[in-house]
Order: sequence, then structure tokens, then C-alpha cells
Amino acid sequence: MTIKEAIYFRHTVRKYLDKPLGPSVVENLNKRIQEANEKYGVQIKLVTNDNGAIWSMMRMFVAKNVKNYLVLAGPDRPDLETDLGFAGADIALYAQTLGLNSWWIGETYRGRHVRQDGIVTKGVIIVGYGMEQGKPHKSKTIEAVSQYDGDAPEWFTEGVIAALCAPTAMNRQNFMITGKSRAVHIEYAESRWSRIDLGIVKYHFEMGAGKENFNWI
Ligand SMILES: Cc1cc2nc3c(=O)[nH]c(=O)nc-3n(C[C@H](O)[C@H](O)[C@H](O)COP(=O)(O)O)c2cc1C
Repeated sequence: MTIKEAIYFRHTVRKYLDKPLGPSVVENLNKRIQEANEKYGVQIKLVTNDNGAIWSMMRMFVAKNVKNYLVLAGPDRPDLETDLGFAGADIALYAQTLGLNSWWIGETYRGRHVRQDGIVTKGVIIVGYGMEQGKPHKSKTIEAVSQYDGDAPEWFTEGVIAALCAPTAMNRQNFMITGKSRAVHIEYAESRWSRIDLGIVKYHFEMGAGKENFNWI
């Protein structure tokens, strides 16, 4: 499975099998995390075999066997959240290509348990072998979230479709993508997690459209 294919297969999964991540999966994930950390200036970390990441209410009523997670963290700076969204999307989709499922959490995780000194934590992404594969979220339409000046080329439409598959906090999908010739612009309505969402949606658009076809403006 490619990253682009993973975009269409990934859905939030909250219940996992009681099955540890295999050693080669951990090795591959850590390699991808290291690459993303260097590329995007973040400090994402994989934690395995630890069931303390989420609120106990979630553990009791919503989740099962949540034991492996990525901590979305980095140095305090203006674009940190967008970069964490972008890097996190890369790792979560890569995890999907390795046969794993995932669940982004911006609110219902235990900050005090996962926090590290000297850096800022903005959320976690649970990973593991899902009991099921999840299901597609309710989605806005292409017309509601995008506009192209003239006839939209195929790459633009594919980018918007991929962006609509992106996970967003509370499934808000509060973005507007506009295109003209090879220039693409994205706006995301400001809210608590909008900057993380923006990074995730940008990553999805790039993968769907093909980076070689356009420039962000
Ligand atoms: C930044 C962010 C924060 C999220 N926070 C939570 C959360 O605190 N609790 C939760 O159960 N789900 C959380 N989610 C999962 C979203 O509800 C889910 O991604 C969205 O409904 C779309 O569904 P999908 O992931 O299946 O496409 C979060 C997702 C994102 C991207």
C-alpha cells in the first residue's frame, strides 16, 4: 500500500487488539519518525507498551487496548502545530502502510503522563492493530471546500478529495482551498486545533495532487 492509497483506507480506530507491535514495525516507524523530526523540526516520539496515554473514561467506555502512541511534541515556536500536523500525517499514513491503524487525540489524552521537559506537547496519535478498520467520516463536498479559477485540472480535484479524507478535530473540515493555474492557497478557520488540522490537510492535499503539479502561495 502506498501513502496515497493509505489516505483512502485510514479511518479513526479506537479499539485495538492486544497485540504488541512487531520489532520490524517499531524499527520502521522509528526511522520514519526520525526522518520527519529532522525534516519538519519537531520532536515526535513513539511510546510502546504503555496504557497511560488516554483519559480513564475513554479507556473504560470508548477505547480498547490503547498501548502504543506517538507524542506530538516539539520546541515552542509559532508554526509548531502546523508542522506537527504535517509530520504526524506522514507518520500516521506510513503506519497504515505497515498494516496499523491510528487515532489522533488532541483533547482526551493525559498531558501530564506524556509531557516531556523543555518541549511542548500538542496531542498524541494512538497506533496499533485495529479490531476493525473504522469507517469513512461524514464529509463536506468538493464544492464546499474548494474553488478553482477556470476548469479544475485533475491534480487539483484529486488533491481536494485527498484533503477531504484527512482527519480533522471533531471532523470540522473547516478549510477552503483555492487554485489558479499552478498556484494553490489554503485557509483554515481559526479554532483550538485548526493549526494542527491545517498541517494534516496540507499533507493530504500534497499527496493527492502530487507536489510537482503546484506551488503553495
Ligand atoms: C487534531 C485532532 C484532534 C482530535 N482529538 C480527538 C479527541 O480528543 N478525542 C477523540 O476521540 N478523537 C479525536 N480526534 C479524531 C477525530 O474526531 C476524527 O479524526 C474525525 O472525526 C474524522 O474521522 P476519521 O479520522 O475517521 O477520518 C481528533 C482528530 C484530530 C485531527
